[in-house]
Amino acid sequence: MANVVLEDVKKSFGTVDIIKGVDLDIASREFVVMVGPSGCGKSTLLRMIAGLEDTSSGTIRIGGEDVTEAEPAERGIAMVFQSYALYPHMTVAENMAFGLRVTGVPKAEIDRRLADAAQILQLGSYLDRRPAQLSGGQRQRVAIGRAIVRDPKVFLFDEPLSNLDAELRVHMRLELARLHQRLGATMIYVTHDQVEAMTLADKIVVLRAGQVMQVGRPLDVFDDPENLFVAGFIGSPKMNVLPAVVAAGDGRTVLIEGDEDMAVALPHLRGTLQPGREVRVGLRPQHLRLAGGGLLKIRPDVIEQLGDVGYLHGRTPGGAALVAQLTERLAAVPKKELRLAFDPGRAFLFDSNEQRLR
Ligand SMILES: Nc1ncnc2c1ncn2[C@@H]1O[C@H](COP(=O)(O)OP(=O)(O)OP(=O)(O)O)[C@@H](O)[C@H]1O
Ligand SMILES: [Mg+2]
Repeated sequence: MANVVLEDVKKSFGTVDIIKGVDLDIASREFVVMVGPSGCGKSTLLRMIAGLEDTSSGTIRIGGEDVTEAEPAERGIAMVFQSYALYPHMTVAENMAFGLRVTGVPKAEIDRRLADAAQILQLGSYLDRRPAQLSGGQRQRVAIGRAIVRDPKVFLFDEPLSNLDAELRVHMRLELARLHQRLGATMIYVTHDQVEAMTLADKIVVLRAGQVMQVGRPLDVFDDPENLFVAGFIGSPKMNVLPAVVAAGDGRTVLIEGDEDMAVALPHLRGTLQPGREVRVGLRPQHLRLAGGGLLKIRPDVIEQLGDVGYLHGRTPGGAALVAQLTERLAAVPKKELRLAFDPGRAFLFDSNEQRLR
């Protein structure tokens, strides 16, 4: 297995800069998940690592070797796409063996690797079928099988589960986690899906407009986001963000929406803040609870009940959207203003440039 290092990697299409200087250190055997909004450059970056897209500047190293200019076949990687990209006229076995046959791997060796991959992915009874005779999940397993038989140093996945229905996604997510444990391979995985990112990753990379916003272990990114973008992107429902102003006095109290009733004391702040300064307070829906004495005011409008939890949606008196995750089941949307309580130690603070204030 191999590590992957990106050093100030950039990519432009014509005059448009798409990847704007990415540094990344991926350890051997690590499972790294890249997330970010549509169009931020996830697929482009993955394709650059694969060698399917050339790199405008910077260096890509795989296993210590500079592969920036190397052909895809020389990089020791295998890529799995969202679209599976199987050959419709070939059987499962032929699809999986094709890449090995064209590179001249001996038949006995192909058979051995095929049998291994089929066993790992439980494809043994489908080897003679054609892709059209398989379910979406089975097709995706064939696409993964085709990557496994090549025995790559690094696996690259571009949203491999996004064409599957919800139940199959959950199933395949577990399969991928097991596959990673079993192969111990370096894996770089692109997804839109929060849960895939949180559950599969040893390390999450949050991208925005071609730049890395934060890299870290999933729970560290969730618990300790460096900026408002990451705070809003990781976690579901999204973190509530409310305007606030620093109160006169000790520089560690903020008034949500300037409202003296919604004063939040933040003794855990390391520094003090200039009274009158405008900031934003971030509150995770999971950290809010209904409580008569709570300081946060909500005017509810919709309840979503999911069975185990419910989401109470509404607005603050100032009109900011607010959602609280509740464990109690409310029978109907309350007509009156309610109060939400939270532990101030769990409130996040951001400056007007969206950077975290600690
Ligand atoms: N060959 C190309 N020529 C010009 N622009 C391109 C090319 N390929 C990608 N882009 C642009 O680069 C940006 C990043 O695209 P990319 O496909 O990497 O995004 P992504 O993060 O994978 O998005 P999604 O989540 O929708 O798959 C987009 O603005 C896209 O339009
Ligand atoms: Mg993409």
